[in-house]
Amino acid sequence: MNRQDYDRAVGDAKVIQKEWRQVPAPRRGELIRIFGNKLRERLQELGEGVTKESKKILVEGIGEVQEVVDMCDFAVGLSRQLYGLTMPSERANHRLQEMWNPLGVIGVITAFNFPVAPWGWNFCLAIVCGNSVVWKPSPKTMQVSHLCKEVFDSAVAEFGGEWNDLLKIVDGGNETAEWLADDGRISLLSATGSTAMGKALAPRIGARLGRALYELGGNNAMVVSQHANLDLAVRAIVFSAVGTCGQRCTTLRRLIVHESVYDDLIERLKKSYSSLPIGDPMDRKNLVGPLIEQAAVDRMQSALASARELGYQVHGGDVIEGCYVKPAIVEATEQSTLVQTETFAPILYAMKYTELEQAIEIQNDVPQGLSSCIFTDNIQEAETFISSVGSDCGIVNINIGPSGAEIGGAFGGEKDTGGGRESGSDAWKQYMRRSTVTVNYGRELPLAQGITFDV
Ligand code: UN1
Repeated sequence: MNRQDYDRAVGDAKVIQKEWRQVPAPRRGELIRIFGNKLRERLQELGEGVTKESKKILVEGIGEVQEVVDMCDFAVGLSRQLYGLTMPSERANHRLQEMWNPLGVIGVITAFNFPVAPWGWNFCLAIVCGNSVVWKPSPKTMQVSHLCKEVFDSAVAEFGGEWNDLLKIVDGGNETAEWLADDGRISLLSATGSTAMGKALAPRIGARLGRALYELGGNNAMVVSQHANLDLAVRAIVFSAVGTCGQRCTTLRRLIVHESVYDDLIERLKKSYSSLPIGDPMDRKNLVGPLIEQAAVDRMQSALASARELGYQVHGGDVIEGCYVKPAIVEATEQSTLVQTETFAPILYAMKYTELEQAIEIQNDVPQGLSSCIFTDNIQEAETFISSVGSDCGIVNINIGPSGAEIGGAFGGEKDTGGGRESGSDAWKQYMRRSTVTVNYGRELPLAQGITFDV
């Protein structure tokens, strides 16, 4: 896409937003209700579209589209809420309240590994909040993005009116992302991708004091205590470490295991890993598809080579064929820089601990802060892990793996993950402008803070 096409797309989105912001929010919700129904009808087709380009297994492809369906339901309900608070004014005959108004054009950048869900989290909220959206998908997943646009256009046709420009797709790579970052017409840029991408865009958005919402890298851990139900833990570990071939931002990458259950757990995992069905992601019998591209295979192999150099024991990790790899378990003797680095591949680093305090320290001692969990049946341990001295992540789970979050909660994380929150809870507020409103319905003009200023 050249600059002219880009400018036209953002310009169109800006024009339509000026109209859309005047449509009552519950009516805006109606468009998202229709969109959700269209998605339901085409769930299978869209799921296949996700799988075709992102190469995740079909149940995960469909599950990802389901997140957008769920998000539509959430946004429809929200369209009758968007509550503002009313506070008691310190002055007589005054009302103090806040109102939430639409923000403008929302830029959304998404990554190949989740081509649809994070877009949906942003899009559904942005639309009911009275905004338009300019979406830059990953160049690797353009087809399924255009399929989403087609479904949205069919919803617009049923809804009535010329609202198609509420969603504009812009293509391209880093250059287009930079245009969005620099563009003062973009009121909020919501960007999902690597920490490196976030760090490249942040100074540009910051230079214009623009708003940003980041969902960047993760290096998610599970603490497995001596009080854990190991059967549950093994199931959770395998799903969250090898699912999506280790290419979720929420993938389990670090296992922090109490020394008394370490050997038993590693043996059980090695056994599960040895029978993983790996192959064509369209074939329902497989649980692991390929990595996205050769460069990802190379990065995985180079991380494993570094692990061997450090003297860590590596189980699995071989290339089967092309981009198909065996997920790896690496027994790390300490949390080295290698372990602290997110390699977007199915590598699980296992480490031992003695005291819970030490496990929490290891969990927190990485640059990223997305997702974390502890497996324990001990209430003191569980509560400590979620307390102020516990995990420093945006997602903190007990007896659930770090991945596979529901849309109802706010999704995102701290530190190098970027601090943004998307999807549920009150994430919608970021897509709106908060106006603090004071109304004087009296016949006098008292000043706040008791100031007298008689003229
Ligand atoms: C991502 O990898 O960018 O919690 C998103 C999960 C999914 C979303 C992952 N619901 O694993």
